[in-house]
Amino acid sequence: MPLDDLDKWVAEIQKEIDEEEIKRYNKYIVELFQNPRNWGKPKDNEISVWHAYEGSCGDTMQFFLKIKEDIIVKVNFITDGCGATVAAGSQITLMLEGKTLEFAENLQPIDIDNALGGLPEDHKHCAELAVTTIKHAIEKYKIQNS
Ligand code: FES
Repeated sequence: MPLDDLDKWVAEIQKEIDEEEIKRYNKYIVELFQNPRNWGKPKDNEISVWHAYEGSCGDTMQFFLKIKEDIIVKVNFITDGCGATVAAGSQITLMLEGKTLEFAENLQPIDIDNALGGLPEDHKHCAELAVTTIKHAIEKYKIQNS
C-alpha cells in the first residue's frame, strides 16, 4: 500500500476509534484524555506535598500540589489508569487551581462526574479515585505542617 494510502487508512481507523469513544464517554471526556491538563510531575521546588493512591480497580493516581497559605496554587497529576481516570484527573486540576484547601476537602466524586458531563456507570469510580487521592494528599500536607 502506498504511504499516502496507509496514512489515510490509519486516519480513518483513528476517526472510527474516536467516534466509538465519544459515543461511550462524550466529546469533552475524550478531549481531556487525549490532551490531559496539568499532566506530569513538576520540579521538586514546585511541590508542597504529593501523594499516590491505588484505587479498588488496581489503578494508581498521583497528585502533586503546591500550596501557599491554604491556597492550591498549582496542581499536577499522573496516573497509570484508564482514559476516564486521565479525564477525571485533568478535570480536578482545572477545578482546584487557585482554590482553598477547604474547597478541595469538600469536593465530591459527583462534582467531577457532573463537570465531565457524566462518566459511564462502570467508570464512576475513576472520579472517586481522583477525589480520594486529592483528599489524602491534603491530609498528608496538614499533618506535615501541623
Ligand atoms: Fe481504574 Fe478508571 S478503570 S480508575
